[in-house]
Amino acid sequence: MKKILTMLLTLAMSFTLVACRTAEESVEIEESSRNKETTVEGGGANILIAYFTWAENAVLEEDVDVVTSPSVVVPGNVQQLATWIQEETGGDIFSIRVTDPYPSDWDACLERANEERGSDVRPELQDNVENIDQYDTVFLGYPNWWYGVPMALLSFLEQNDLSGKDVYLFCSHGTGGLANSVEQIVETSPEAIISDSIFDCYEEEAASSEDEIRSWVNDLGYSFSEEPKDRDDTASQRQISVRIDDNTIVYALNDGSAADSLCEMLPLSIEVEDYSTSEKIFYPEDGLDTSNSPFAKGGSGTLAYYEPWGDVVFFYGEYNENPGLFELGQIVSGEELISQMSGTITIEIAE
Ligand SMILES: Cc1cc2nc3c(=O)[nH]c(=O)nc-3n(C[C@H](O)[C@H](O)[C@H](O)COP(=O)(O)O)c2cc1C
Repeated sequence: MKKILTMLLTLAMSFTLVACRTAEESVEIEESSRNKETTVEGGGANILIAYFTWAENAVLEEDVDVVTSPSVVVPGNVQQLATWIQEETGGDIFSIRVTDPYPSDWDACLERANEERGSDVRPELQDNVENIDQYDTVFLGYPNWWYGVPMALLSFLEQNDLSGKDVYLFCSHGTGGLANSVEQIVETSPEAIISDSIFDCYEEEAASSEDEIRSWVNDLGYSFSEEPKDRDDTASQRQISVRIDDNTIVYALNDGSAADSLCEMLPLSIEVEDYSTSEKIFYPEDGLDTSNSPFAKGGSGTLAYYEPWGDVVFFYGEYNENPGLFELGQIVSGEELISQMSGTITIEIAE
């Protein structure tokens, strides 16, 4: 049965082989919901990037086959695209997550997705966007699942009213392209102003499409011009102190949801561990809420949260960006002490 499903899908996906591109030419959208001409300056606070990816909606099992189910062991393709859009626009990012995750086995996931499609279900979501009204512009990302969108995307659209908002679609897919996905979205959100400039990307090219997707965002008129914060500026933000024996390291936290969660846990005395040659880490008892947090992009001195493992990281060397890594804050003082952390540390809100 599973083999048959895979074969059916492979056949279905073999209509056209498409590489990363914007897809104005390949999509026909009802005239009534076509994009108005939009000229938008800058990026920032009123932009939301909402996306669905298998990688963040799968039960992680130890014996997952990395060849047949690559998406669940590396950052998902759509997740990766969303990260770049977030960086380029400075908007808020929201990962659409179901309460009942999909199997991490490829065939089993196909089977369940097909059943959901057949019975037109709306999978229950873990969260909704906090105050969707604050956003004028939404970048909406998804993979092609069975010639259309994952049904959870329809749950999202029905629970978060995008009427009157400028919506830009981005999609990663196999050889089936966008298939019926755009039509499904238009039908579900008829009052959204869905642009006919759509970024779509063949699955094997997602990882190398950074320049293309950043250009797409720029061409749409969205770019986040704000310079990265000077470290001196961070002194006026909320700060935490990390005490190791008689020494103190101070960090300024950003205003993201993960940093909020960390603050709620303070004061905290906890064991710190070594990881690699550039990280000191600890595992908070509860996970941090990353629903509205920036990704980590700095080097040494960055305080971050690695969501896949649930650990907080004090960096004292360079590191690679990773879509699971969220920034909590930046060092204010005591950077030279980070590499010496060991044993029990005490973290509290700085006076
Ligand atoms: C359940 C399921 C169904 C899929 N159906 C299709 C399809 O009909 N057509 C297609 O081109 N790709 C299909 N794919 C492939 C994904 O669209 C593609 O691998 C995408 O890049 C995955 O993005 P993600 O890693 O963010 O989940 C399917 C993948 C899954 C898991």
